[in-house]
Amino acid sequence: MDASMMSQDTLAVHAGREDLNALGVHALPIDLSTTNPLPSILGGGDSYEALAGGGTVPPGGSSVYARLWNPTVARFERALAALEHTETAVAFSTGMAALTAAVLALCGGETRHIVAVRPLYGGTDHLLASGLLGTTVTYCDARDVAASIRTDTGLVVVETPANPTLDLVDIAAVVAQSGSVPVLVDNTFATPVLQNPADHGAALVLHSGTKYLGGHGDVMGGVLACSEALAEKIRPVRAITGAILHPLAAYLLHRGLATLPLRVRAQQTTAARIAAWLGGHPAVSEVFYPGLRDAAGLVGTQMRGTGAMIAVRLTGGADAAEAVTSRVRVFTHAVSLGGVDSLIESPAALTHRPVAADAKPDAGIVRLSIGLEAADDLIGDLDAALGASGVGEAGVGTSGVGARRVSDVGRAPRDRIEEDAAASVPPQLAALHTSMT
Ligand SMILES: Cc1ncc(COP(=O)(O)O)c(C=O)c1O
Repeated sequence: MDASMMSQDTLAVHAGREDLNALGVHALPIDLSTTNPLPSILGGGDSYEALAGGGTVPPGGSSVYARLWNPTVARFERALAALEHTETAVAFSTGMAALTAAVLALCGGETRHIVAVRPLYGGTDHLLASGLLGTTVTYCDARDVAASIRTDTGLVVVETPANPTLDLVDIAAVVAQSGSVPVLVDNTFATPVLQNPADHGAALVLHSGTKYLGGHGDVMGGVLACSEALAEKIRPVRAITGAILHPLAAYLLHRGLATLPLRVRAQQTTAARIAAWLGGHPAVSEVFYPGLRDAAGLVGTQMRGTGAMIAVRLTGGADAAEAVTSRVRVFTHAVSLGGVDSLIESPAALTHRPVAADAKPDAGIVRLSIGLEAADDLIGDLDAALGASGVGEAGVGTSGVGARRVSDVGRAPRDRIEEDAAASVPPQLAALHTSMT
């Protein structure tokens, strides 16, 4: 069957494994060779030339040296490219290494200017603002991309949903505004399960594989999915800077892809319920979740779901954030996201710490990555932590969704949670919820 006809679920399990039967193996082989036999001096030189120039291993050639090419990494790249609907992909040791390679490959010489739509992951924001790679940046709103593009602009950088406040950006509209300048979309939060930026014209799709792709909090990696023409510019940067993904990490990321659709759908179902429940909590003044604020109607068109990341603004500000993050017991107070276990963190203090003061999320916002635990346990944990923070007694929820009784604050029995959550799912989320599962 033609891979382009297969569903994401089937591709997630089978893509990148095309050569396994011929090798006589069933599980993904891990090739740890740092160097490889050469067919001859001439043949070895030809392979080196092809790989250092950004190409792939020529027929009958050699992988030469693991900083240039590795078959285990290449299998993961083929799988990710299939899931992201791109010709190919180039994998790196981290997401930041992938971003660095894209910038170095596309923003040299006459094109050292970058246009970036905020908000972005703090590390991305920091890299671009620092000028470390010899570039300058203009930060703008998604509507002002065209006005920000200059003759020396080499790249447009967008994140959607954006870290940490889940802002959605219309990728096709940004691409239209960018003209011939390539647009890089960080798809880490959505994953290829929920969104394929290349289908909307993005030239480069970036993932921090450290997050959902690996999915278990035990592997770091990054990847750029793109055309073969762009990959030929990016691979030499990866080879020169030595940023290739390690084969053990490639194995874990590739294995993670097989369960990615299942994980994302299950985590999303729980997140949609928690987002709705949080909307009715008196300690929460604002919930950031894609399905709740989507004037452009991107959920259901650009995105196939709402995902499993949530941010909330706490009525009690930074003190409440400190209290909640220290009191959770099922959630872990830690950075990162997208794993099987739920995490909570303060973007202002951690993931977005290096962001300029005028663009930094306020200290009363906490970000939640929803894992695979039972929704009731997560809600109970949050309810106890929010109630115990002392901010719950102030009154009822400001969103008007499922406002709680003052007598319930600090009490988290399952029956009340069920009752509150069922009553508080707003219609727009309930509809999405059904279509996503
Ligand atoms: C949206 C996003 N992009 C990129 C990165 C950077 O990825 P890594 O930590 O794998 O370098 C992160 C890390 O948190 C992220 O959240």
